[in-house]
Amino acid sequence: MIPADSFREDVIAGLSLPQKALPPKYFYDARGSRLFEAICRLREYYPTRSELALTRGHIGAIARFAGKGSTLIEYGSGESVKSRLLIGALRPAAYVPVDISEHALRRAAAKLQRAFRWLDIYAVHGDFSRPLKIPMAQGRGRRVVYFPGSTIGNLTPQEAHAFLRMTRGQLGPQGAMLVGVDLKKDTALLHAAYNDARGVTAAFNLNLLARINRELGADFRLRRFRHYAFYNPARGRIEMHLVSLAAQSVDVGDHRFAFEAGESIHTENSYKYSVQEFRALAKSAGFRGEKVWLDPKRQFSLHGLVAA
Ligand code: TRP
Repeated sequence: MIPADSFREDVIAGLSLPQKALPPKYFYDARGSRLFEAICRLREYYPTRSELALTRGHIGAIARFAGKGSTLIEYGSGESVKSRLLIGALRPAAYVPVDISEHALRRAAAKLQRAFRWLDIYAVHGDFSRPLKIPMAQGRGRRVVYFPGSTIGNLTPQEAHAFLRMTRGQLGPQGAMLVGVDLKKDTALLHAAYNDARGVTAAFNLNLLARINRELGADFRLRRFRHYAFYNPARGRIEMHLVSLAAQSVDVGDHRFAFEAGESIHTENSYKYSVQEFRALAKSAGFRGEKVWLDPKRQFSLHGLVAA
């Protein structure tokens, strides 16, 4: 569990901004994690399939890049087919999944343990946007952080820079990263991916308000807010918002927030990079972009970065 106090403080601070905003890390309560898994299965949501295709297609080279016998640290709970492919090909000395959702983390770790009996798993419940204490036996080889799913795109470029620098510091001189990064592409495809016909992404976005109601005693009326996602080409990002359908006020504990009709809460960004743009970002944070793999449709990239 995230301490309720920091959740409350973050929500009140975010809703007090001129452009109201909420931190996306709070999407992932038990229901949010399940909805997110449903997003990954949507026909419109290409990134999951593209990343899986590129992982399948290049698994030998990816494992060689990471190096056999390394300690594999995954940011995210690792319940995916691509994590299994990587673990199977790499046979890491240890596997350290890190996730903010304790439920998703435990479930994923238990499943992986059943699939790979020989694997040493150290699950870490935590927020990888801050420095982490990673339990690590000495002499367990090189540390490789696997950060798939274009989660790095949910940070601003400035935050991504700081995150990469911090991670480089934690990995040490031999460290490496495998980072999944969604690519810039036709805006119609981008738009569809974040506005699915069945409304799963909308339910995922709105679940954040339901969680605030439940855990912080707020009174958001979910039917008075609507999911709104669009591609902002100038900034190279999908923006997700929750738009107030009417003038209304909402209480979060003893704080009251006024909404105008049409006013939005900005809940998440998903930045899209060209291969060159991401390489430049990684370079500025102290990594050498050594390898990059793409899927056959060139929709998604996996960068192999080495501490420079
Ligand atoms: N990082 C992925 C992306 O930006 C997955 C993701 C995070 C996502 N939050 C999301 C996908 C919300 C859809 C909606 O695409």
